[in-house]
Amino acid sequence: MSKKIVIGITGSIAAFKAVQLISDLIKKDFHVEVMMSESATKFINPICIQSLTKRKVYVDTFDDENPAIITHIDIVKDADLFAVIPASAHTIAKLANGFADNMLTSAFLAATCTKLIAPAMNVHMYKNSLTQRNIQLLKEHHVLFVEPISGLLACGDIGKGKLADEEDLLEMIQYALTPKILKNKNILISAGPTQESIDPVRYITNHSSGKMGYALAKAAFCLGANVTLVSGPTHLKVPYSVHFHPITTASQMYHTIMPLAPTQDIIIMSAAVADYSCEEIADEKIKKSENYIHLQLNKNKDILFELGKIKKENQILCGFAMETNNLIQNAFEKLKKKNCDMIVANHLKTQGAGFQGDTNIVSIITHKDIKEYGLQSKESLAYEILNLLINMEE
Ligand code: PMT
Repeated sequence: MSKKIVIGITGSIAAFKAVQLISDLIKKDFHVEVMMSESATKFINPICIQSLTKRKVYVDTFDDENPAIITHIDIVKDADLFAVIPASAHTIAKLANGFADNMLTSAFLAATCTKLIAPAMNVHMYKNSLTQRNIQLLKEHHVLFVEPISGLLACGDIGKGKLADEEDLLEMIQYALTPKILKNKNILISAGPTQESIDPVRYITNHSSGKMGYALAKAAFCLGANVTLVSGPTHLKVPYSVHFHPITTASQMYHTIMPLAPTQDIIIMSAAVADYSCEEIADEKIKKSENYIHLQLNKNKDILFELGKIKKENQILCGFAMETNNLIQNAFEKLKKKNCDMIVANHLKTQGAGFQGDTNIVSIITHKDIKEYGLQSKESLAYEILNLLINMEE
């Protein structure tokens, strides 16, 4: 059954952004009900929302169609999430103080589900200690917040007050809806390619987009883990709530990960780390006057192998394997040689698996067994991997 999200829209220029968000939530198969404050209707017409949700948009508390049903109580009874996006300073103040003076605030007060607020307002209104006090009060009552971002605001001021990006809103909605099976767990994930310079303009790299690693980081966050993401250069947006360490080379990745390793409960090496780097990086661009050039490549440290050497009792180490032949046999050898608990072996030669795409096909190898996972999104595979890892701990 699809999850039910009640979205409350309040009076803000950012109200128009809620339209796209609602459309995307419906495409993701959520059951979306919408309530608007009176002032939100000055920014967008409820009909616009109604044509997306195909349901009535509620504004007036007394606009109950059926006298047997009290809408503001009834609608939130089976809701999985109540999200106020965007939330004005005025509505935040009302919600913090338990006001119930319109459909949205009454339903919020009546709701017992998880609640999420994404503020949007002028920077000075946001920074005002009264607003901050109201936000703090709501946080103390277990309301989740998606922080506004900095930028040029509608009023012309520059500062923090813009509604968070849709990607972050979707991530926090997912977080709010996901059971916290990884609560209190520290998880380190490596992602993306590394780049090994040849000269100031050229480098050696591979085709990793980072999608698999970032999907793991987002899923681990949604499951409640304290996530550290060490990533090579990618075009992906940094997930909302991870400790992010950008690196470029395999050596930088090694030096970033090793000191962090002892405090991790789970480490997943999904990065495609370069096995070799240049002995010397030319100071100037190498001229193409010769027919060929020699590059002296030296072997990089195998980070997974080094992590296996210092693995603590109760720590779980998961590597990936990318092989173009004898995948399972080679993956098994990696499992043993690198002292891992799990290897996720990509079926690189099958369409829909491996680099770049949004999907993957893998065999997951442990010391106990091999499990096959057919074509699925990297996002859902990330949840499968994390579920297996957490079950290993028990
Ligand atoms: O980023 P995407 O486009 O989404 O693609 C995902 C992926 C295919 C890159 C990913 O799923 C993947 O397979 N990553 C590991 C790629 C790799 O380097 O495989 P490998 O078989 O060469 O290495 C085995 C393991 O050792 C890996 O966990 C790797 O991170 C680790 N390793 C490798 C070399 C090295 N110097 N240090 C390491 O730690």
